[in-house]
Amino acid sequence: MRFITDSPGETQALARRMAERLNGGEVIAFTGGMGAGKTAFTRGLAIGLGAGDVASSPTFAIVNEYEGRLTLEHFDMYRIDTWEDLYSTGFFDYLDTDRVLAVEWSENIEGALPEGTIYIDIRPGDTETRREITVRGWKGEL
Ligand SMILES: Nc1ncnc2c1ncn2[C@@H]1O[C@H](COP(=O)(O)OP(=O)(O)O)[C@@H](O)[C@H]1O
Ligand SMILES: [Mg+2]
Repeated sequence: MRFITDSPGETQALARRMAERLNGGEVIAFTGGMGAGKTAFTRGLAIGLGAGDVASSPTFAIVNEYEGRLTLEHFDMYRIDTWEDLYSTGFFDYLDTDRVLAVEWSENIEGALPEGTIYIDIRPGDTETRREITVRGWKGEL
């Protein structure tokens, strides 16, 4: 499904609706370049899970954890380019748990994403504050 948003708030609102329908164990894989809105979307997920605010992409920590109705693990794979790097992030330890994994720069770990991954691609629209958000692998409404 495809959505157009016209502000960061609209992107967050979409993400909050997704958060309300999460059961735990989902992997949410973002694609889209720098400044696309991946962190903005993740912020909406965290708010929707009652896990508070997401400060920024966890570029240096690689993963930040947010506790809410479900635990959200927020990964930034920008600097991950080997399997060894990926193992060291703990990504595989979190798979098949009841945590929700939100993965920025999932392009870099494409081959490691499990079956059932929810793919979210965010592209700039034709105004400064417009984004085209394509969601694949989501079952149900948003
Ligand atoms: N419709 C929109 N949805 C999301 N972010 C938007 C939108 N319009 C403008 N923005 C701005 O784009 C930027 C997105 O930044 P961020 O979420 O950190 O991107 P990324 O994590 O993909 O690099 C923010 O400054 C945000 O305010
Ligand atoms: Mg980011």
